[in-house]
Amino acid sequence: MAAPAGPLHGTVAVPGDKSVSHRAIMLGAIAEGVTRIEGFLEGEDTRATAAIFRRLGVQIDAPSDGVRIVHGVGLHGLQPSSEPLDCGNAGTAMRLLAGLLAGQRFDSVLVGDASLSKRPMRRVIEPLAAMGALIESDGGCAPLRIRGGRALQGIDASLPVASAQVKSALLLAGLYANGETHVREPHPTRDYSERMLAAFGVPCAFVPGEAALLGGFPLQARDVSVPADISSAAFFIVAATLVPGSELLLRRVGMNPRRTGLLHVLRAMGADIAEENTGEQGGEPVADLRVRHAPLRGIEVPVEHVADMIDEFPALFVAAACAEGATVVRGAAELRVKESDRIATMATGLRALGIVVDETPDGATIHGGGFHGGIVESHGDHRIAMAFAVAAQLATGEVRIGDVANVATSFPGFDTLARAAGFGLRAA
Ligand code: S3P
Repeated sequence: MAAPAGPLHGTVAVPGDKSVSHRAIMLGAIAEGVTRIEGFLEGEDTRATAAIFRRLGVQIDAPSDGVRIVHGVGLHGLQPSSEPLDCGNAGTAMRLLAGLLAGQRFDSVLVGDASLSKRPMRRVIEPLAAMGALIESDGGCAPLRIRGGRALQGIDASLPVASAQVKSALLLAGLYANGETHVREPHPTRDYSERMLAAFGVPCAFVPGEAALLGGFPLQARDVSVPADISSAAFFIVAATLVPGSELLLRRVGMNPRRTGLLHVLRAMGADIAEENTGEQGGEPVADLRVRHAPLRGIEVPVEHVADMIDEFPALFVAAACAEGATVVRGAAELRVKESDRIATMATGLRALGIVVDETPDGATIHGGGFHGGIVESHGDHRIAMAFAVAAQLATGEVRIGDVANVATSFPGFDTLARAAGFGLRAA
């Protein structure tokens, strides 16, 4: 249950980046030596990845919250699991592991929860098959049965969808392939795999929209310091922008240029977001973000920002609902195959709170207005639940959000941090 509680104030340290945390476990596991991860996201998705590598014979210690010590087994040291490997809700785990496991000597089975079992996997199965992998699926969805012992060949792939998960799956398979694996994207996506592979000593060359590596090179363990996840910070950025009188400072937020699309779009709408104390953490740009309330106006979201804010649309839809005029989103059909159909779940929820939304196949037009109270469904999607917790801070009545347990997928402790900043939230 959520309702307004007045201006938001204070300093918020959101948890570590989900994408970086997944990759640090994966590369640490197949590296030679010991990788210490600090700022690891203690979310269900990233814990699922760690649990899978334990099943594959990797010792991973968790000496304290946010710290993992991964005892790497080397490129060819993973052991088969007698049980299916459970990715839970995590698309990143399933798609990246499809690539990594396609290069092993043994068979594996990847399973996921109800949401993940509906998400499209052909986008990884088909290019991996072109490399020589053999992956059986249930009509293009999980469970995935991955055959081991295949000789993989590097390829030059031009991907039809902009997806860091697909790109990363091919690069991880490429570690086990003969020759060079070259991936070209229709729009540049987050480059954490490339950056981390290079940092672990793999000859990996990359520019925005393109990456290539040579197979057969061992990875050398190295410590990873994970910045705060800008996708989690997004809910606080939007809330502080919308609630009159607010000022929030978000600490050490990851500012990888492939993740900052929301900041560009919100600023174009009139938001007041200052970057302070800029620096670097674990090879990634970071900054403290000071966000003050500012009135927003609707805009057409430039299509070139879509991939750079692909996880931030639930938060952006809420900002758009409070802006003056209409906000138009196009070129974002990928939102329909996330943890839920995020165009449909956001449109339905916003309408339940009094907002006019015109849906299109690849986006929506959101007409700015005001929220009244109501009941919204998150459909088990963590980012939808958090987006409506933000919307509730602007509503004239109480907002009841169904199915919020999945917030722990990416943001354990969201409710505690949000209440401390001034959100009105309580368990129903
Ligand atoms: C991710 C890539 C994106 C993003 C997801 C994390 C990653 O997915 O939505 O939350 O870590 O590579 P797609 O590759 O499907 O766009």
